[in-house]
Amino acid sequence: MTRPAVPGHLAIVMDGNGRWATRRFLPRLAGHRQGLEALRRCVGASLERGIGVLTVFAFSSENWQRPGEEVSGLMELLGVALRKEVPALREQGVQIHFVGDRAGLARAMVEGFEQAELDTADNQRMVLNVCFNYGGRWDMVQAAQRLLASGVDPTEETLAGALSLAHVPDPDLLIRTGGDQRVSNFLLWQLAYTEMVFSETLWPDFDERALDAALLEFGQRERRFGRTAEQARPAPARAA
Ligand code: IPE
Ligand code: IPE
Ligand code: MG
Repeated sequence: MTRPAVPGHLAIVMDGNGRWATRRFLPRLAGHRQGLEALRRCVGASLERGIGVLTVFAFSSENWQRPGEEVSGLMELLGVALRKEVPALREQGVQIHFVGDRAGLARAMVEGFEQAELDTADNQRMVLNVCFNYGGRWDMVQAAQRLLASGVDPTEETLAGALSLAHVPDPDLLIRTGGDQRVSNFLLWQLAYTEMVFSETLWPDFDERALDAALLEFGQRERRFGRTAEQARPAPARAA
């Protein structure tokens, strides 16, 4: 296959906001603001392309270690996004989920998450998972603890069912912008067979062209899931 392919589930590590700002002699927060614009664009482009699930990494468990000013700026920006973006997403048919550890987040923010989820729960066009205060290790531990508490034996199925992305299938494609090639504690369990595309583009510059370039690369991959290439390829159509 050498054409762009549309992943059922696209996951993105939106990285490079800080460098985008620094290169312009702007405060890092200006990069995060521009990153929010890029996310809005990306949601629109994903809807147009028929992507069913979009999962974005917005704030990691480790991002608390950043300077206090940047962390509080990011929290403020999330508040603005909740107020300004959710009504439009609701109109566009997007079902929103906030994924991550809610303990330690301000009460008003958690209420904002709950309201946004409630307001968009009936939407069916696309699922948008915003991973905030999320870490793959946190997710596996909270899933294991939930199984223990309810006396359920851990199996691949029960553990997967207790993870915070149990409402969607595993990602088909992961895009990481910003030039680094690492997972940074994103979806550790769910990336088992995900194709990965690393883009040099800094997240605030990520546009439809950059998205289509990644989808083109995805279309060229052969997903084998442990099988041989011969097994993985579709059998040629037989003449009648
Ligand atoms: C990603 O951009 C956004 C968050 C982690 C919140 P960065 O802020 O990590 O940008 P760089 O990697 O420093 O350029
Ligand atoms: C990953 O980016 C987290 C988000 C994009 C929210 P980081 O910038 O935090 O990752 P590292 O520290 O470079 O690995
Ligand atoms: Mg970064």
